[in-house]
Amino acid sequence: MYISLLGRQPELSIAELERVFTNVSWFSAESARINTDEVIDIQRLGGSQKIGRISLEIPSTDWRTISTRIVRHYSDAWKTSEGKITLGLSAYGFTLPGREIQKTGLLVKSNLKKQAVSVRLIPNQDAALSTATAHHNKLGLSATKVELLIIKGRNSTIVAESIGTQNITALAARDQGRPRRDAFVGMLPPKLAQMMVNFALGPKSLELHKAHNTLRVLDPFCGTGVLLQEAALLGASVYGTDLSEKMIRYSQDNLAWLENLTHSSFDWKLAEGDAMTTQWQQPIDAVATETYLGQPFSAPPSKAKLTEVRGNCNHIIGSFLRNIVPQLETGTCLALAVPAWRDTNGNFTHLPLTQQLDSFGLTRIKLTTVESDRLLYARPDQVVAREILLVTKQ
Ligand SMILES: C[S@@+](CC[C@H](N)C(=O)[O-])C[C@H]1O[C@@H](n2cnc3c(N)ncnc32)[C@H](O)[C@@H]1O
Repeated sequence: MYISLLGRQPELSIAELERVFTNVSWFSAESARINTDEVIDIQRLGGSQKIGRISLEIPSTDWRTISTRIVRHYSDAWKTSEGKITLGLSAYGFTLPGREIQKTGLLVKSNLKKQAVSVRLIPNQDAALSTATAHHNKLGLSATKVELLIIKGRNSTIVAESIGTQNITALAARDQGRPRRDAFVGMLPPKLAQMMVNFALGPKSLELHKAHNTLRVLDPFCGTGVLLQEAALLGASVYGTDLSEKMIRYSQDNLAWLENLTHSSFDWKLAEGDAMTTQWQQPIDAVATETYLGQPFSAPPSKAKLTEVRGNCNHIIGSFLRNIVPQLETGTCLALAVPAWRDTNGNFTHLPLTQQLDSFGLTRIKLTTVESDRLLYARPDQVVAREILLVTKQ
């Protein structure tokens, strides 16, 4: 049993976990339990910041009780360890200063010293180590580099041994290092792109972990190819089309750059094409795409402008759906990012087609952890949010 510390938008993060691992539930507002026998690789999950294997569940949320249990458990578990242990402690949901958390680590350290086991304790500035610190110290990546994740739930506390932290350096390098970028087309964050691919592949994402290029993911609005890059890194064959010849060149350059960077060879196909009329080549195992989002806005548009942009987006995305659905096998999953606009009161206006998916021959994928009809990705200052539609062909 594992626990995930979810990302900035926990609903999207838990939805990704549920799609891939099925047996997933909330533990706290910022964490989820994953019940699986599969090997988990955190670098394949865009929405999880840290993941740990659960070692203790303590029926208390009182820090003293928890600290005593941790000290007792780990002083015993590591008493015959060979080699130096690097230890970090990260507590979530407790309003305690870093030094309080640190004290627990110091007690483990001094107990083990008596058994001639040496421990290097990573200092806590805060209650939890940052993902950068955890990653830099390679915590969770070997038996002697341990990060304990101590997560407070409603009535109990989980202690888990980290199996890794999201590699924010690699994500940032992919985001900022890409040779071709286009601010007008927009920049899909790589984390969200990875989530989109997992939304569309669901449990099949685990098959790709074992055997690459056995499934093909289509992005019919591929732009600069961010989503194709993440799908290729997950092991999918990728197929991108876009109305703009320039965007196809950009995707080509970005994929070639990523192959070079990661010393890999991807299986990809790119072609110019209007998503409202293109006949795509088979096979298409899953569709993941950030569709046309209309023009960017820095402030909420006037009512007339919103009506115009919303109508235009609805026409393009609706025509795309009418074109693609008959080309897909029954049961094929689609993860579509479509626009939703925030007004001055913080309410969102959605595309009309989000209420008419049935008429396109599509059914929403039901999730148990979140309402699947309102998955929104938006930074607090953004007017145009991305609404994620998770659907299957009927
Ligand atoms: C929001 S951007 C996608 C950005 C992309 N996720 C990326 O990584 O750069 C939408 C893309 O849709 C393309 N587009 C607009 N209308 C289209 C249509 N009818 N058919 C195909 N592509 C279209 C645009 O050229 C643009 O590249």
